[in-house]
Amino acid sequence: MASAAVPVPEVALRPGGGARPMPAVGMGTASLQPVPGATRDAVLAAIELGYRHFDTAAMYGTEGPLGEAVAEAVRRGLLRSREEVFVTSKLWCTQSHPDLVLPSLRETLRSLQMEYLDLSLIHWPVALKPGVPTFPSRKEDAVPFDLEGVWRAMEECHRLGLARAIGVSNFTTKHLGRVLAAATVPPAVNQVELNPAWQQRTLRAYCADKGIHVAAYSPLGGQNWDGTGSNAVLGSEVLAGIAKARGKSVAQVALRWIYEQGVTSIVKSYNKERLRQNLDIFDWELTDDDRLKISQIPQKKIVRAEALFSQEGEFTSVDPADLEIVEE
Ligand SMILES: NC(=O)c1ccc[n+]([C@@H]2O[C@H](COP(=O)([O-])OP(=O)(O)OC[C@H]3O[C@@H](n4cnc5c(N)ncnc54)[C@H](OP(=O)(O)O)[C@@H]3O)[C@@H](O)[C@H]2O)c1
Repeated sequence: MASAAVPVPEVALRPGGGARPMPAVGMGTASLQPVPGATRDAVLAAIELGYRHFDTAAMYGTEGPLGEAVAEAVRRGLLRSREEVFVTSKLWCTQSHPDLVLPSLRETLRSLQMEYLDLSLIHWPVALKPGVPTFPSRKEDAVPFDLEGVWRAMEECHRLGLARAIGVSNFTTKHLGRVLAAATVPPAVNQVELNPAWQQRTLRAYCADKGIHVAAYSPLGGQNWDGTGSNAVLGSEVLAGIAKARGKSVAQVALRWIYEQGVTSIVKSYNKERLRQNLDIFDWELTDDDRLKISQIPQKKIVRAEALFSQEGEFTSVDPADLEIVEE
């Protein structure tokens, strides 16, 4: 299988922390309907195609298969060593308590069969009662989030060399302000929903000012996370028009636009042709007219903190308004 014709560019993360640069496109491994063995096979195919950046989370159930695929790729000589890949994982909300951060990261590393993560993220600015995670969660299980305490524990993981870089996910400017005020090691990355139909202008400007790199999840509009069956990215007529004119797919136009914003895409495909396509965005560019049209696409956020919780029940110890502010 041919690997990417053009090398994947890398972005330097905040200096001084010992993190390796992050490849500008990463492969996501969250799957709406997980199939046993599918993640391992798809990651191996991706490595053959030239992917060197993988995104997982304690909550996805894909740390084990991702680790197996990387180990197998080393055995087969597709990789010289684990050092060649950039691996991100995330701390789930049931573990977002200062004393649970380090044990949770050690568990993640055991699942991945790895000595360290390239990037460890707090998955959401939300804490749930410790215990076996359920999805959706009970509103009653949401508890006050000790953001400063959890961040100090993340810094300890970094100091121990278990996380080469540390960061956050789904954080708004308000949450980031609190972390920055408390941090000795500021967050290197904020991973958020970002695509042409949810461009995150406010957050991107804030992060650029603070030296926080932005990574985009759901860069193609996601996996029907809101259950409506619609997709404002892959179904966009504006993007379809640009794709036709450039001789590219709609997905490639979306990923190219994200790359041109200085943002790293975390894109999920378990299909070899689409994996190949999603990496083939580095030797062409959009025109100013394309960019203008994309800037006018109506904006809508899909992934909401409230979707973590079941419809029933009541929040008893947190104000749901603190979980998320939708900043356009
Ligand atoms: N931090 C967070 O809270 C958070 C939340 C959501 C996601 N994530 C991460 O971000 C990753 C990506 O986000 P996502 O999974 O929500 O959605 P996404 O990458 O925007 O979209 C994935 C969907 O698009 C399809 N697809 C992929 N490439 C395509 C192409 N070239 N043409 C047409 N369809 C294509 C995939 O199907 P096939 O597999 O069949 O190709 C899949 O159904 C996740 O896997 C996860 O690692 C993080």
